[in-house]
Amino acid sequence: MTHNMIAILDLGSTQSARIAREIRALGVYSEIHPHDIAPAALKALPGVAGIILNGGENRVVEGAPVEVDPAVYDLGLPILSVDYACEGHPADLPAWPENPRETLDAFVEGLNVERNWNMENFIAAQVEQLRAQIGSRKVLLALSGGVDSSVVAALLLKAVGDQLTCVHVNHGLLRKGEPEQVVRVFRQEMGANLIYVDAVDRFLDKLAGVSDPEQKRKIIGAEFIRVFEEEARKLEGIELLGQGTIYPDIIESGTKTMKAVKAHHNVGGLPEDLQFELVEPLKYLFKDEVRAVGKALGLPDSMVYRQPFPGPGLGVRCLGAITRERLEIVRESDAILREEFQNAGLAGKVWQYFTAVPDFKSVGVRNHARCFEYPVILRAVNTVDAMTATVEQVPWPVLLKITDRILAEVKGCNRVVYDLSPKPVATIEWE
Ligand code: XMP
Repeated sequence: MTHNMIAILDLGSTQSARIAREIRALGVYSEIHPHDIAPAALKALPGVAGIILNGGENRVVEGAPVEVDPAVYDLGLPILSVDYACEGHPADLPAWPENPRETLDAFVEGLNVERNWNMENFIAAQVEQLRAQIGSRKVLLALSGGVDSSVVAALLLKAVGDQLTCVHVNHGLLRKGEPEQVVRVFRQEMGANLIYVDAVDRFLDKLAGVSDPEQKRKIIGAEFIRVFEEEARKLEGIELLGQGTIYPDIIESGTKTMKAVKAHHNVGGLPEDLQFELVEPLKYLFKDEVRAVGKALGLPDSMVYRQPFPGPGLGVRCLGAITRERLEIVRESDAILREEFQNAGLAGKVWQYFTAVPDFKSVGVRNHARCFEYPVILRAVNTVDAMTATVEQVPWPVLLKITDRILAEVKGCNRVVYDLSPKPVATIEWE
């Protein structure tokens, strides 16, 4: 099945991703392309039915405004120009209105195309494409249990079943119940070939005594690659590697007129010398579309709607040099926080919430005797893009209940504090 598509040519707008998302919400697939795409290549894009020339504040590159090739106007495709003046066109075209949906709806209506972009159709089309790409070959996937890798796994399972092998590396820094959930959902419920690697001791041994946050991140990343490589080399005849790359990863890497947010190396940081052909079935999907695909494929809500979780996991929340004792305090207190946020109806509302445990103790009193134990820091923030964040005003009774439970149930903790700092000046994580 082919979808009609609207191509957005990026001429320095910061709105391209938002506009693409809006068009898709209107039922038509949309992709962002650099302004200097060759007209023939533009015309050859599958299903292309219309073009949006999307000008904006970053249009001037090296002293001159960028232009599209004038032959774009002769392709016979309807064009909507925004904030972009060129040949014969009046200067100072209006920028996007606050709510661009109406403008886009009128443009889409004028194209006279079927509005058939939805996740059911996407899944059907992807399954066909994956079968065509993979044939009878085998695919390997690093399955962390995060949203993206879980949805890739579910999609690949539907497309090629037991030609897929998933590897789940438990590095000991996952949240309570996560490794068990991955095994239960994929191996038991979905019947996937899943290799579970218990690498907890290995990671914690490598991290012992390391207190610098960046050093900790490097060790966790490098060790993950080593473990995964070892597992991959044990398997024979695998030519393809599944990846959970999503569209924002590609967009954020930037084009000439799009300010690069961050350079995304191949997701998961797997080394190129593994010599695999990549399978990236989500690379044109936005995050909410990925979640919708996961849901349509039967993944549990707790997997599909989970809050963002950093790659180094609890490793950057067990502050300073990681010890097993404090890692357990982080894991147990985090589980209580999540449970109580769920009970209070905050789980789906707050962007990210977690606990962190510092590497010092404070004095308390327990059973009429002095105790000297660790504090637990609670953090709950809201953000759009993680560049800035505000603190959630958690109702006092909820905070008190969480505090009571942590103090009663988590061994080795005698104090709970709530972090009130916005980003900036603080960051979301403590390390
Ligand atoms: P900060 O602490 O920089 O975090 O305000 C912004 C967002 O990024 C997440 N984060 C990470 N994610 N690897 C990741 O995959 C990391 O090393 C890492 N550090 C922070 C953090 O959880 C927040 O959502």
